[in-house]
Amino acid sequence: GALDKGGFEHFMLKEIYEQPLTLEETFRGRLRNDHSEIVLGGLLDVFPKLEQAGRIIIIGCGTSWHAALIGEYLIEEYAQTPVEVEYASEFRYRNPVIGEKDVVILISQSGETADTLAALRLAKEKGATVLGICNVAGSSLARETDAGVYTHAGVEVGVASTKAFTAQVAVLTMIALQLAKRKETIDAETYRMLVKELSETPAKGRLILESNKKIAAIAEKYKEAVNALYLGRGYLFPVALEGALKLKEISYVHAEGYAAGEMKHGPIALIDDNLPVIVVAPQDAYYEKVVSNIQEVKARKGNVIAVVTEGDTGLHEMVNDVIEIPRSHLAVAPLLAVIPLQLLAYHIAVLKGCDVDRPRNLAKSVTVE
Ligand code: G6P
Repeated sequence: GALDKGGFEHFMLKEIYEQPLTLEETFRGRLRNDHSEIVLGGLLDVFPKLEQAGRIIIIGCGTSWHAALIGEYLIEEYAQTPVEVEYASEFRYRNPVIGEKDVVILISQSGETADTLAALRLAKEKGATVLGICNVAGSSLARETDAGVYTHAGVEVGVASTKAFTAQVAVLTMIALQLAKRKETIDAETYRMLVKELSETPAKGRLILESNKKIAAIAEKYKEAVNALYLGRGYLFPVALEGALKLKEISYVHAEGYAAGEMKHGPIALIDDNLPVIVVAPQDAYYEKVVSNIQEVKARKGNVIAVVTEGDTGLHEMVNDVIEIPRSHLAVAPLLAVIPLQLLAYHIAVLKGCDVDRPRNLAKSVTVE
């Protein structure tokens, strides 16, 4: 059941392993088998509003905010609607400009985060349409939004969010593609191909979990590190942020996520032979750019752990450690690339003797300000 560890040492590990199943739950009844349609029942009535939106604002905290950033890239790329992403705690206090043509999407696993609820109420007051992406049925967020989509990831016990994140990203991907279809900003063939790619992520996630032992061995090598840098580009930039957050939250190692292209404007100064640099580098549109970032790190004696596309042997000689993930379209890659980063953080925390499921100073849901 959801509230026992099901043979795993920690809830967090159990929840990481559940992701192929929880992704299937998120897609259930929503992705047509022939990849011709995405059905989001909860949004049917508000899709016209989304289509006419001059702007979409996506709001969340923590891991949910990282999911929002991926949503921004997806919606702008495919549906061509301008998107802004905000921390709930900033939005609620800064007199934001919002109007009736704006659609605000609030993301929250728990649906009870105080700042996110305050942002929701403010957006509503200003006349925006407010939608929710939420994991807990009947939560305050679910009750107070005009409409929304449940993530269906099941109860998440580990304080560090894992399966709720992949479910949020899956929902945002479905929203982006369906909005694009309705706005006719995507061609039929690309749409079908991407729906198929989405439907294949649970099976690919299962393959990634087979690398768990290998990732544990990599964790052993880097468990003494006091800092870590995570790099990614495009859709994988928020994944780098999320990987760094996981490590920080549960192992208390200071970690920073950065857009790989921004490394030269600061983090490069930190690189020495003590710094592990985790580079999310699947073969995609930015591959060459990321390879050159890796070369820059290596030239300064940094240790590179690269998450690469399986079969991409070209990078093996250049880096210290390699974790392979199955080939996928870039737009669905966050759902896969985050899994090895969750496992890496998990194993480092366990090796350091940290209380993985209940890290110090953190709460599963921050219901007071
Ligand atoms: C806390 C949790 C995080 C979570 C964040 C937002 O900080 O420790 O894991 O991402 O709250 O929570 P929510 O329930 O709103 O997604």
